[in-house]
Parts: sequence; C-alpha cells; structure tokens
Amino acid sequence: MTAPATVCSGIPVVDAYLDDGYDKVIGMSSRFAAAICCGLLRIQSELGVKGPVAEVGAFEGRFFIALAKSLHDGERALGIDVFEWPNAQVIDRFEANCERHHVPAEKRITWKADSNKMTAVELLAKVGGQKVRLIHVDGEHSQIALTKDLELATAVIGEGGVIVLDDMLHPGYPTLMVAVHAYLERHSDMTVLCIIDRESIFAATKFVLCQKTWFKKYEAALLDAYRDNVWPMGATFEPHWCLVLSLDTRLPPLE
Ligand SMILES: C[S@@+](CC[C@H](N)C(=O)[O-])C[C@H]1O[C@@H](n2cnc3c(N)ncnc32)[C@H](O)[C@@H]1O
Repeated sequence: MTAPATVCSGIPVVDAYLDDGYDKVIGMSSRFAAAICCGLLRIQSELGVKGPVAEVGAFEGRFFIALAKSLHDGERALGIDVFEWPNAQVIDRFEANCERHHVPAEKRITWKADSNKMTAVELLAKVGGQKVRLIHVDGEHSQIALTKDLELATAVIGEGGVIVLDDMLHPGYPTLMVAVHAYLERHSDMTVLCIIDRESIFAATKFVLCQKTWFKKYEAALLDAYRDNVWPMGATFEPHWCLVLSLDTRLPPLE
C-alpha cells in the first residue's frame, strides 16, 4: 500500500504553510519530514515539553519557517548558518522568506556563525538560557563536523528534547552514519526514535534521536498520529528497533 501523499503536522498554521509556501522557499528538506517534525513539536506541546527550537544550516528558511510556526507564544526559533553559500545574500533571502511567511522578528533569532566553532553556553545564551526542545542538524556534511554538531546538540537539548539529523543514509554522504553510530556508542542515554524516509535524493532521510527515557512515549504518539505512514518492517539498530515513517509503505512482492 502507498500512504496518502498529504501528511499533516496537526498544527493549522504549519499545515497551511506546508500546502502553500513550503515549496516556494528554496531548500532541501522534504515536506514529509517537515510535517512529521512539526507533528512531533505538537506532540511535545501536548506532553508539556516547552522551549525554543534551533536549526544548524538554516539556509533560505524552508524548514526553519515550519519549525518556527509550530511554536507557542514566548517560544523562539534560532536559525544558525554561516550564510555564505551560494552567496553572501542568502541571509537577506532567509530574512525575507521569514517575513513573507509570517515568522515575525520577535519569534526568530538569526545567528551568522559556524556551528563547529561555538560552545553550548554561547548557543543557549542566544535563546535566553532556555534548553532547546528540538534541534535540526543540517550543516556541514562531514564525519568530523557532524560529530561536533551532535555533541553541541546533545548539550543544548532539555528534558524530552529531540535531535533531528538530515541526510542520513544519503548515497552522497556515507560517512555520516559512522559519526552517528559512534555517537550512539558514546551516549548510551540517547537512542533513535524514528527514521523519516526520503522523498528524493536531495530531500533525503532524517533520523530523529531522543533520550531513551522518552522513547516509548514518543513512539506511541507517533504511531497514533502517523499509523498510515509506518513501514511494517521498521528499522533495526541491532538490537534496538524503531519506526520507519514513509510515504511508501509497500513490502516487496513475494510472488
Ligand atoms: C543543505 S543546506 C540546509 C538546508 C535547509 N536546512 C533546508 O532544509 O532547506 C546546508 C546549510 O548548512 C550551512 N552550513 C554548512 N556548514 C556550516 C557550519 N559549520 N555552521 C553553520 N552552518 C553551516 C550552509 O551554509 C548551508 O546553508
């Protein structure tokens, strides 16, 4: 069975942006992944997990705007990027896209910086000292850089916080998985909550990591919200098992 193409976050302002806006902002994250991640922010709010969100690699704002629109009053979104690629005007396009899609200045913090050169204390100072409830890691795609970003992300998330990793299992970046496996060995309190399957080669797969103590609660809520998108086989991390959420839930034909 192929799951329906339109998957929602369950937050009306986010879903309106996903339906009319998301594709107009240049970016690389899939609409499917944005719907699931914002759905997870909704689930967090329902479970009482509050606080800011952050993105490493905000680029032109496609995914960032969806995250920011998921927040409650008083919560803010921090967009981190070196803002040099493909040219220096990318920061202006980021700000203009946020304005165009109604993420007001008081809701967002733009930080032109190298994530590999910042400390957790510096990042937290940008969001008023509050721990982060979701951080999307989509910056430099090397094993060393991801290792540093993962340590930064782990140090800034609060109780119930999640880390979303972009371009996992991507044929162009096979070494990123080495960094993730080494990270999971080092951080026995963290685990993979779910895998969000890719839409295309550039709108690629994301992993969502959470604290082990939150795994069952979040898994149950994701199953409830996205049952039609659960690929029946799931993913095994030998022995840990987690959900695979996909737009294509078929199994291989056996006859
Ligand atoms: C693939 S783009 C991000 C796409 C965006 N997250 C989306 O979903 O549309 C990667 C971004 O990471 C930024 N970047 C690369 N290395 C970085 C670093 N060390 N610190 C901060 N940003 C970085 C690049 O400037 C680029 O804008």
